Amino acid sequence: MKPIKVGLLGFGTVGAGTFAVLKRNQEEIMRRAGRGIEIAMVADLNVERAREMTNGECEVVNDANLVVDNPDIDIVIELIGGYGIARELVLKAIANGKHVVTANKALLATHGNELFKAAQDKGVMIAFEAAVAGGIPIIKALREGLTANRIQWIAGIINGTTNFILSEMRDKGLDFDTALKDAQRLGYAEADPTFDIEGIDAAHKATLMASIAFGIPVQFDRAYVEGITQLQATDIRFAEQLGYRIKLLGITRRTAYGIELRVHPTLIPASRLIANVEGAMNAVLVQGDAVGATLYYGKGAGAEPTASAVIADLVDITRLATADPEHRVPHLAFQPDAMIDTPILPMSEITTSYYLRMHVADKLGVLADVTRILADATISIDAMLQKEPAEGEQQTDIIMLTHQTQEKNVDAAIARIEALTTVVGKVTRIRLEELN
Ligand code: NDP
Ligand code: HSE
Repeated sequence: MKPIKVGLLGFGTVGAGTFAVLKRNQEEIMRRAGRGIEIAMVADLNVERAREMTNGECEVVNDANLVVDNPDIDIVIELIGGYGIARELVLKAIANGKHVVTANKALLATHGNELFKAAQDKGVMIAFEAAVAGGIPIIKALREGLTANRIQWIAGIINGTTNFILSEMRDKGLDFDTALKDAQRLGYAEADPTFDIEGIDAAHKATLMASIAFGIPVQFDRAYVEGITQLQATDIRFAEQLGYRIKLLGITRRTAYGIELRVHPTLIPASRLIANVEGAMNAVLVQGDAVGATLYYGKGAGAEPTASAVIADLVDITRLATADPEHRVPHLAFQPDAMIDTPILPMSEITTSYYLRMHVADKLGVLADVTRILADATISIDAMLQKEPAEGEQQTDIIMLTHQTQEKNVDAAIARIEALTTVVGKVTRIRLEELN
């Protein structure tokens, strides 16, 4: 059979990695796919660099439209990133009857419904294994391996940059700004790291996992997103003393009232495997009703780990391209007409436990006032830590861990605690998940 022809848009980190891995493992991949996979065309703004790196083995062009309009191309790989030109090119590729592989989580989390609908109508596939947790085959696991299960919840460390920063803050006692500079120096964080440190990148990925796990439309705009920029080294230390680690988790959970979809710094017991995922590594913990908990660990970024996922999609499409569209694995795991619109819960309705730190005057009755407010809000205290005031200081920190409660109860209690004259400044709130 003649090789399937691929057009690659964007020859940056992942594009070059994909080209290199496909070339290196060509024979092995062909034995698996049952057919050759040939990158016939590459489009990149820097044509010279791409030509040099592809060594005359394929046509290199500056205008990506030449690739998506080429009738000889069967599959388009979009590795440009962003939601502007990438969206236009993907829509055009679909309209031209081409299958699409993309690593672009930002694009799919914001325009996924439109793109999947267009692909469905045209009978082509959009594959996106690389868009969530890079090299970890989590999309395949959720969509196919766990298909027997009613997924109950997913909690993932799905952003390597922030996990690296948090690991540095804990290991070396660094503050956030210093750890971020280290991440940038070592090439983990981008020059503009906003999407990573503000939790947006993790929320894109959590949004996609929520859709596949629960059969709901892609709804990034309903996700609660809180990054790590406000996290203080003090809280990492106190969490450690209480037996917890702080990780930026992407969490999605099925409840009786709707779906929780949230990204925020989270205390997790230090004894959990996922709490020990350090540096730029990723891990996703999935709770299914039949299988129980399964954990997926690996590199969430980088040229070749991400290429590994891109090429897995290429092989999948190569195997399935000739199959009747009705019999392919649905884009979002559930048949398009079986998707349901279970609401994403507003943050005030989610249920979890909390770490609360308040800076208080070291005076009689302060603790009683705080515990009374918590009791009024039906919040039960699980553990407490009060530090001796430092020599000559009249103020100290009180740290409380609560049992599970609704976020709105904590909102109300925090407002009342902050109004006490004996409480200095804002109460620090970090959510806590036992993950059991
Ligand atoms: P890069 O910035 O390294 O590569 C993007 C490439 O696309 C650049 O070479 C860029 O050229 C080129 N480009 C920009 N605009 C156009 C255009 N209009 N036509 C053709 N080429 C264009 O990004 P990455 O490889 O890191 O990321 C690609 C995608 O993969 C993104 O969606 C990203 O989120 C995702 N991803 C990346 C991971 C990683 O580890 N890097 C991991 C998982 C997903 P120029 O440089 O000249 O602008
Ligand atoms: N910026 C992302 C991260 C890259 O740090 O995990 C992979 O999506």
